[in-house]
Amino acid sequence: MSRNALNPDEAASSGATSEALAQRFRDVRLTSELLSSRLENEDFGLQSMPDTSPPKWHLAHTTWFFETFVLATALRSYTPFNEQFGFLFNSYYNSVGGAHPRPQRGLLSRPTVAEVFRYRGHVDALISDLLHGGGLSERELATIEVGLHHEQQHQELLLTDIKHAFSLNPLRPPYVDSRSPVERFVAPELTWCSHVGGLVEVGHNGHGFGFDNEFPRHHVQLEPFELASRLTTNGEYLAFIEDGGYSRPELWLSDGWALLNEQRWETPLYWEKLDGQWYAFTLWGLRPLDPAAPVCHVSYYEADAFASWAGARLPREAEWEIAASSATVEGTFVESGSFHPLPLRSDAAGNAQMFGDVWEWTSSAYAPYPGFRTLSGSLGEYNGKFMCNQMVLRGGSCATSRLHIRGSYRNFWHPHTRFQFSGIRLARGLEPVENAPVSSPELRLTDFEPESGSFLADVLSGLSKPRKSLPTQYLYDEEGSRLFDEICELPEYYPTRTELGIMDARAGEMADAIGSDALVVEYGSGSSTKTRLLLEALDTPVAYVPVDISKEHLMRSARTLAARFETLEVLPVCADFTVAFDVPEPKRSPKRRIVYFPGSTIGNFEPDGAVALLRTMAREAGPGGGLLIGVDLRKQASVLEAAYDDAQGVTAAFNLNLLTRANRELGANFDVSAFKHRAPYDEQAGRIEMLLVSQVAQVVSIGDHRFHFEAGEEIHTEYSHKYTVEAFAALAAQAGFRPVQVWTDNHALFSVHYLELA
Ligand code: AVI
Repeated sequence: MSRNALNPDEAASSGATSEALAQRFRDVRLTSELLSSRLENEDFGLQSMPDTSPPKWHLAHTTWFFETFVLATALRSYTPFNEQFGFLFNSYYNSVGGAHPRPQRGLLSRPTVAEVFRYRGHVDALISDLLHGGGLSERELATIEVGLHHEQQHQELLLTDIKHAFSLNPLRPPYVDSRSPVERFVAPELTWCSHVGGLVEVGHNGHGFGFDNEFPRHHVQLEPFELASRLTTNGEYLAFIEDGGYSRPELWLSDGWALLNEQRWETPLYWEKLDGQWYAFTLWGLRPLDPAAPVCHVSYYEADAFASWAGARLPREAEWEIAASSATVEGTFVESGSFHPLPLRSDAAGNAQMFGDVWEWTSSAYAPYPGFRTLSGSLGEYNGKFMCNQMVLRGGSCATSRLHIRGSYRNFWHPHTRFQFSGIRLARGLEPVENAPVSSPELRLTDFEPESGSFLADVLSGLSKPRKSLPTQYLYDEEGSRLFDEICELPEYYPTRTELGIMDARAGEMADAIGSDALVVEYGSGSSTKTRLLLEALDTPVAYVPVDISKEHLMRSARTLAARFETLEVLPVCADFTVAFDVPEPKRSPKRRIVYFPGSTIGNFEPDGAVALLRTMAREAGPGGGLLIGVDLRKQASVLEAAYDDAQGVTAAFNLNLLTRANRELGANFDVSAFKHRAPYDEQAGRIEMLLVSQVAQVVSIGDHRFHFEAGEEIHTEYSHKYTVEAFAALAAQAGFRPVQVWTDNHALFSVHYLELA
C-alpha cells in the first residue's frame, strides 16, 4: 500500500537500534509470510478490482521498497535482483521511474509466486546482514523503520484485498477454515461520553515512530462534544436499513446519493439476505450477521447517512484523538486472529472499542496539519500528493497490527471506499460550557480566602529538615497545573481516565445511593466532566458548592457549571478546604449534604492528615450526610512507578518545576539540571514518593540561606497513597463514615466510595 506519509526525514523514528530493528525486520517479514501461508497457490495472483492488488504483488512491492530505498543506497555496487521488478513493483514513485498500472496487476502471471518468494529471501538476507553489521546511518535505519510500517499496511491490504476477491467467487472460499461455533453476545447499551473541548493539542507527540502526516503537533479549538461509548452495531445499522435508510435522499450527501443509485447500494458491502436471513461474507466464509458486532465495510457516505438518521454526526478527527488520548491501545487487532470485528462483551466504562475492530470514519477531510512540509527525496512523494478528496479514519481495525497503530495515526480513503474494515462511531455536539456565556448568572461568593502564601517560609523550613522536603501544594503554580493536566492524559497515568470511566458508567447508581434534593459540596472546584456527570445524574440537587483556594479558578468553573445547569443554585466558596469553613445556606433546604472529593487527592495526605481532612468533611456534611470520594487502589509496583515516572518525562517536568518556581519567585539558584525526578513505590507503606535527587554535591542559595546537598540526597515533594477498598473504609471509619457502596473499574485500578455518617 502506498497511501500514508512515509518520509524518514519527517517521520519520528523510534530511535530503535540496529539490533532491535533486525529483530523487528525478521518479525514483520515473517508475519507477511504467515498471513499469506493460508492462501492456495492460485490465490496469489487474484485481483478483483482496480483498487485492490494481488497478494503476490503486495509481497513483491514491500520487498521492492527495501531494495530500492535501502539496498540501492546503502550498498554502492548493488545489482537489482531483477532489473524489471523496478517497473512491476513500483507503486507510484515517479521519481524512481515508471510503474505498471495498478488495474493490471492481476495480469502479472510472471514472475511466479516462487520467484517472488526468492526475491524476498534475497532482499531479506542483505537487509539482515546490514542490520547485524551495525554500520547503517541513522537515515538508513529510519528508512528501514518506515519500510516495516509500510509492510504492516500492506499486510492489512493483503487481507482486505483477498476478502474482496473471495467474495466474488460463488464458492465463497474462506480465508480461515474453521467450523467453530459462532459465539453470540448482546451489545451493551450505547451511552454518551462527554468531553469539555476547549483548546486542545493534537498530532504526534514526538515519542516513538510516526508518519509525517501526523506532524506537527498543533492546537485545535473544540466545542464541547460527546462520543458514543461504543461502535455502531450491525443491529443498529439494520434498523436504519429497515427504516428506509437507503431510499431517503434527505439523509444522504449528494455525492453519496448519486453513487448509491448508480451502484444500487442497499446494504453495507458483503451483506446478503438468504431465505429471509441476513448473512455477511467474512474471512471465515459466509456467516449469519451478528447484530451485536460492529458494522463494517461502510463507505463514508453510508456512515454519514446513518449518523444523520440517528440524529447525530461523525466525529472530527481531533475530537476522536482527544477521546482516544485517555484510552489504552487495546482492541481486536490482527494478532487476535479474529479477522473480523468482534462485539463488545462488557459495558466497560468510557469510550470503548476506540482501537482495533474497525477503522472509524471521521468527518475530517484528509488535509495537511498547519506547518506540514512536503519533503525532498523519493519518499516525500508519499504523502502530500494524497491530501485531497479523501477522508480521515482513525483507530485501526481487526486487520491492523497492534504494533502499527497509535492515537495520532491518520488513515485516509476516498469517501466511496467500502472494502476496508471501516465502521461508525457517532458523535454529537454539546452546549458550550467552558466559555461561560456573557449572560452567565451572578454568583454569590463566600470568601474565606487565606492570607497570601508563605512560600518562602515553607521552603526554608522544608529544606532545613534532616530529610529535606518541599510542600506538595506548591507543585501547582500555573505551569505545574498545566503539566498536571498533561499528566492526566498520559497513557501511563490511569487514575483520571479510570475514575472518569467509573463515573460515566455508574453516576446513575451513585445518584440513587445519594437520593434526591442533595446539596453537593465539592472539595477543589470542578468544571470537569466528572462533576458534570454527577450533577446530571442527581435527582433535583438543591445546590452545588464548589470550594477552592484559587478564587479565579473557582469563579471560572462555578460560572461554567451555573451556565450548564440553569436551575441549579451554585454557591462558590473561596477557602482552604483543609480548614473548617461554613457552607452557605441554599434557598431550598436539602435532604442531605454530600461532600464530593474526586481525583484521589486524599492519597496526597499522610494517613493522619487524611483522617483530619475526613473529619473536616464529616463536619461539613453534618449528621446523615454523605461522602463520595475517588480513591486510587493498591496495585503492582511497575504500573504505579510508570504512572509517576512516565516515558515522556511529563511527571519529571512537573516535579522539577517546583525548583524553577522557587528560582523565579524566591530568587533561589537551584541548578534544575542537577536534580533528577524519581518516584519509587514503597510497597510496605503503599505509597509513591516523589523525590528530587541531587545528582552532585552542591550548595543552593535562597537569599542569605545556604543549603548543602550531598550527591544522591533527596528532596521529598509528594506522597501518593494507594489503598485497598477495605483499608480506605477503615480510614474513613475513624472520621465516623460507614461504607454504603463502592464502585471500581474492571481491572480494579481505581475506586469511588460512597459513605455516610450516622
Ligand atoms: C493530584 N493527585 C491525586 C495526583 C496523584 O496521583 O497523586 C498528583 C500527581 N503527582 C504526580 N502525578 C500525579
